[in-house]
Amino acid sequence: MREDIKEILLSEEEIKSKVKELGAEISRDYEGKELVVVGVLKGSVIFAAELLKNITTDCELDFMAVSSYGNSTESSGIVRILKDLDNDIEGKHVLIVEDIVDTGITLSYLLKYLKQRHAASIEIVTLLNKPARRVADINVKYHGFEVPDEFIVGYGIDYAEKYRNLPYIGILKREVYEK
Ligand code: PRP
Ligand code: MN
Ligand code: MG
Repeated sequence: MREDIKEILLSEEEIKSKVKELGAEISRDYEGKELVVVGVLKGSVIFAAELLKNITTDCELDFMAVSSYGNSTESSGIVRILKDLDNDIEGKHVLIVEDIVDTGITLSYLLKYLKQRHAASIEIVTLLNKPARRVADINVKYHGFEVPDEFIVGYGIDYAEKYRNLPYIGILKREVYEK
């Protein structure tokens, strides 16, 4: 464990087995449907890759890049689209993949944005859900774990672009972001 990490919240093994379950559930629900899995860069990249391996039905993979936190620990409330989808989603079933839903501002913006494109459905899967901080009311169809209101990093999730490469999910020590 890194010295900046206060505690490991979810180990690599715990995450892996949960992602397996999510993949199986999603595969059942989308059987026979035209599914587009949309990873939200950059945070979702590890989860999206692991989830994709556990989806056994045909699907496409696409990415969007959005940012609302920048290098801060607080959401700016302004969501910037840095990269749009490559392909058309009209008539397709879209599954947005997120690492964490915190205030919900990122996803509520993204949903509003993608709803104009006449997809057959748009749902959300997030590895982590932090309901204590929710500001925007959004409907999360699948989630892996509920997490406490702590500053979480690892498995794709950053603080100031660092810690994404940790294979587990940990709680960052306060002194790291309060100095
Ligand atoms: C983080 C995280 C989610 C979003 C959740 O992304 O990956 O996308 O914030 O927060 P919210 O529910 O309060 O909107 P960030 O903006 O840090 O970009 P990144 O994925 O590139 O790190
Ligand atoms: Mn993100
Ligand atoms: Mg971030």
